[in-house]
Order: sequence, then C-alpha cells, then structure tokens
Amino acid sequence: MTSVVIYGSQYGTARQYAEELARRTGIEARPYDAVGDINQYDTIAYVGALYAGGVLGMKKTFVRLSSCTGKAIVIATVGLADPTESENVESIEGNMRRQLSGEVFAAARIFHLRGGIDYSKLGFKHKTMMRLLCNKAKNLPEEKKNAEVRAMLETYGKQVSFVDFGTLEPLIAAL
Ligand SMILES: Cc1cc2nc3c(=O)[nH]c(=O)nc-3n(C[C@H](O)[C@H](O)[C@H](O)COP(=O)(O)O)c2cc1C
Repeated sequence: MTSVVIYGSQYGTARQYAEELARRTGIEARPYDAVGDINQYDTIAYVGALYAGGVLGMKKTFVRLSSCTGKAIVIATVGLADPTESENVESIEGNMRRQLSGEVFAAARIFHLRGGIDYSKLGFKHKTMMRLLCNKAKNLPEEKKNAEVRAMLETYGKQVSFVDFGTLEPLIAAL
C-alpha cells in the first residue's frame, strides 16, 4: 500500500502540520506541485492552507485523481478562523464542496486545523488583500461580524500562531 501526505502552503504553517503528520505516521510529505501521478497512492492525506475560502492546491491535486474506489482520503484545512466554531466549519466545507468533485468530497474524511499569520512576511498581494478585507469588515455592523471576520480583525497586522500539533491526533487516527 502506498501513502502520501500532500501539502499546499504559502508561508509554512500547513507545511509544518504536514511534516509533523509525516513524521508521526512515517508517510512521506510532498508539496502539491511535486506529487507526480496521484493515482499511484492508496492513502492520500492532503493538508492545505485556506486563502479566501480556497484550499491551496487542493482542486488542482484531486482533479487528477481518476477514481476514489479503494482509496483512503483525508483532507485537512489550515486557516486562521477557529475550527472549534461550527459556523467556520460550515463555511469552509461549503467552499470545499465547490472545489472538489462530488465523489472526492463524499469519500474524504475532512478535518480543520488552525494556522497562523505573520503580517511582516506577507507578500504585497496578500498584504493588500488583507487590508482591503479588514477595512470592509471593520465597518460591518457587530451582528454581521461572524467568527471568521472577528478572527481576521483581531489578528490584523500581528504575528500569531495557533499551530497545535496535538490537533493532528484525530487525523492520524483516521489514517
Ligand atoms: C490573503 C489571505 C487570505 C486568507 N483567507 C483565509 C480564509 O479564507 N479563511 C481562513 O481561515 N484563513 C485565511 N487566511 C489565513 C491563512 O489560511 C493562514 O495564515 C494559514 O495559516 C496560512 O497557511 P500557510 O502558512 O501554510 O500558507 C488568509 C490569509 C491571507 C494572507
């Protein structure tokens, strides 16, 4: 049986989770753009960072999978929004449903991990995006600010890390 941990990470938090998962399971970790033929694997764990609702590299990776039959698929998102808040999970999974085929979405065990952000490391495009998003969010009436928006506003401009390798346990159990 061949297994792989694939990750999509821009600034390293999803990679940290993927590498720790690989270390704990003895499965090799690879970035999504260096996977080769995904169909050769029976067990696929995907760890991807959330960017504007999209899971980095996930769509590109799973579109190349011709069948889920006999495969174990685990997908973990890594974002700033707190995954213990059910409204965040609903929003993330609603977006994932649009990025995956019905077959992959149904076959995958889905988990959500919390990442972090360091504004001093963001590239120009991401800094600008966050400034625009936060300026817009700031002016929302309080009752319209959901947990995701509040997390974004609370961490704006800062360096924060919610990375907690202990949260990998359920994922490891699922593998
Ligand atoms: C432009 C931008 C958009 C983001 N969009 C989301 C989002 O939609 N949901 C979320 O929970 N986190 C979002 N984040 C936070 C990232 O998911 C978080 O920083 C994550 O840990 C990044 O992973 P990486 O370090 O592996 O790239 C966003 C961050 C940036 C810079």
